[in-house]
Amino acid sequence: MNPISKMLAAPVAVMALWAVSAQATTDEAIAERLKPVGEVCIQGQECQGVGAVAAAAGGGNRSADDIIGKHCNACHGAGLLGAPKIGDSAAWKGRADGKGGVEGLVASAVAGLNAMPPKGTCADCSDDELLAAIKKMSGL
Ligand code: HEC
Repeated sequence: MNPISKMLAAPVAVMALWAVSAQATTDEAIAERLKPVGEVCIQGQECQGVGAVAAAAGGGNRSADDIIGKHCNACHGAGLLGAPKIGDSAAWKGRADGKGGVEGLVASAVAGLNAMPPKGTCADCSDDELLAAIKKMSGL
């Protein structure tokens, strides 16, 4: 290769890389726009609506529905291992009454209780986020 074509080859390679990455960005952007629809049934698997609606609504902040869909629903959706079921207010009320109200349930949710892991597996959930999720699941 003579020096001139070497000088030309480098920018051409850079241009080619740039074109490839520009394409990738576009594909990503498209995937991002399509995501809410794909996520609703594929990632959530049970298409139950609670988490799905939150995911479709988007937004950066995690809503109670978001947290429930990602973390709590796994057990509380079906009442796995004796977990109080989502929407079964009576079951939740019995627990809340023994602990001074819904707020009192946050402490045991944070610490974990028997088969329930600490913070219900949402390790980075704040107390407020847990409380919002508990209120939503219990309907209290
Ligand atoms: C791995 C399964 C599992 C997951 C995930 C889970 N829980 Fe639980 N949860 C349980 C079980 C089981 C109980 C009942 C424990 C018992 O009374 O022995 C329970 C009980 C509770 C209680 C009642 C505590 C009390 O003092 O009676 C609260 C509140 C609660 N869960 C909140 C949550 C929240 C909020 C999430 C999601 C961030 C969550 N859980 C995720 C299994 C789970």
